[in-house]
Amino acid sequence: MKCMRLMECRGMKVQEKDDRIAFFVTVGRGMRHFAVEEIKKKLGRFQVRVLKEMEGKLAFDLLWDNQTSRIDLHRSLLSMRTVERVGLMLLATCEDAFLASIACCTGVGHERSRKKRRVDAACDPSDADGNKTTRSGSSESERAAVESENQVLADLIRLCNLPDAVSRWNQLKHEVKAQQETVPEISECRISCKTRGRYRGVNARKVAEVLGSVIQREHPREIKMVGWTDDKMQEGVQSNALDILFHVNDEGIFVGLLLTAKPLAARAYHDSQQGQRKREQEDEQDLCHDDDEEQKRPHVQPSSPFPSKFSGLRSTVAAAMCDMAGLAAGDIVLDPACGRGSILLEGLMNHPGADFVGLDSDIRALRTTSDLVSSIGISSAQVRLIRGDFRSMPFRSNTFTKIIVDLPFGCQHKIPSVQVEQGVPERSDAEAMVDELLRESSRVLTGGGLLCCLTVHGALFEQQVKESTRWTLREKHPVQLGLKTGPAILLLSHEPHEPARAGGMDKTQEGERGRGAA
Ligand SMILES: C[S@@+](CC[C@H](N)C(=O)[O-])C[C@H]1O[C@@H](n2cnc3c(N)ncnc32)[C@H](O)[C@@H]1O
Repeated sequence: MKCMRLMECRGMKVQEKDDRIAFFVTVGRGMRHFAVEEIKKKLGRFQVRVLKEMEGKLAFDLLWDNQTSRIDLHRSLLSMRTVERVGLMLLATCEDAFLASIACCTGVGHERSRKKRRVDAACDPSDADGNKTTRSGSSESERAAVESENQVLADLIRLCNLPDAVSRWNQLKHEVKAQQETVPEISECRISCKTRGRYRGVNARKVAEVLGSVIQREHPREIKMVGWTDDKMQEGVQSNALDILFHVNDEGIFVGLLLTAKPLAARAYHDSQQGQRKREQEDEQDLCHDDDEEQKRPHVQPSSPFPSKFSGLRSTVAAAMCDMAGLAAGDIVLDPACGRGSILLEGLMNHPGADFVGLDSDIRALRTTSDLVSSIGISSAQVRLIRGDFRSMPFRSNTFTKIIVDLPFGCQHKIPSVQVEQGVPERSDAEAMVDELLRESSRVLTGGGLLCCLTVHGALFEQQVKESTRWTLREKHPVQLGLKTGPAILLLSHEPHEPARAGGMDKTQEGERGRGAA
């Protein structure tokens, strides 16, 4: 089978063999590391190779025509949890001619009006013979310029080999639905365009319109263009048509064909938010996150495209944390600040066989989590939700094998230290929180247990770990989640035994005083 042509920046071909096919995933900021790990783990048996890391994307190729069934491939692609979207990769190029043609679709910069007219001209419908007609008043030279730019764009579209990509897409679908009767071939496409970097000023919708009309002219029989969107609309729109992604930024031009209309990051539990949202509206005060702030906080699960707002931790980040902690059957896992339960939900869905406990000081958060867990049909035996304080956890020592937590931060979560309350002088709230979380985690974790946390206080953790004989920092991944303070996901391991100390009670005994059992 003939492969699609794939170019790397500087025009170099990276895909040579016909039996390999290129895919891509889109990833959130700071999530590439986790996506690469997941790709290797889930697609390793298809001899996957990561080809290129781009802004917000990862390209990889794998064996297409091998013995393994493509149903399996399709399933594996759709099972990825740390990525936003997945699709067939068609083209990545930074060839000047293409970029210059795209720049001509801007309608910005000097020569603004001329370029704008070209865009308008390029969007004019063709006549029955496929000849371009331009608006009255366009001069001959402008018409010639539009023709030559359209020619370059037509070359670009031909390189993408869209009909081949659409037929592969259909093939994947066919094999998956092999048992069902006839599956209609999908040939309707929608183009969605995103312009970034120095192309940020470019009118993405306009570019999409121009490209849409070029695609329609190039492939009048195989592909029917049914619409275009800019990236602001892209997430919310549902359609049966295939989405062609067209992204332009400082790295060049990227073209891909999405495998699913809905982002992979949209989980089933997001669909069950209607009732819960209503209750929260009645409840007036928002629990974790402020509506206006949501745009600026990509770590939070966005409201769009979901039917109602889900503002727990972003599902992809929660899934990455569960992977990083290496959850396995038999684990007993605690999220000591579980909020609306993203970590618990991702853990429950992706790691059957582990048991989960969620703790939070806010009863409304626990109710929401409870609703969400039942909405995805998970047995209540697999998760326990308890109201309490992570500075003084209501659990016996040596109870949990893993702790995974998205720590409170910011003004909504000012946590005065228990010790400050008890008159022990002066530590900042953050120092106190880190200290108390580590002390309590050390107590409730089994020897050799792991603590995985998302925090903006990485430096405080590192300092505490340096001074501790019980904790070792295993991994640290900064995640640039839109917070100024630079959050990171940390993985700490807990040593099995506290070395004997002369003349004093060890931290474990100290922590155990006055604790209730779970
Ligand atoms: C950043 S949010 C966690 C969000 C959560 N991962 C989700 O998906 O919704 C922090 C949570 O910590 C809880 N919290 C704050 N102080 C706490 C404390 N002392 N003990 C337990 N939970 C606390 C808050 O109620 C909030 O739900």
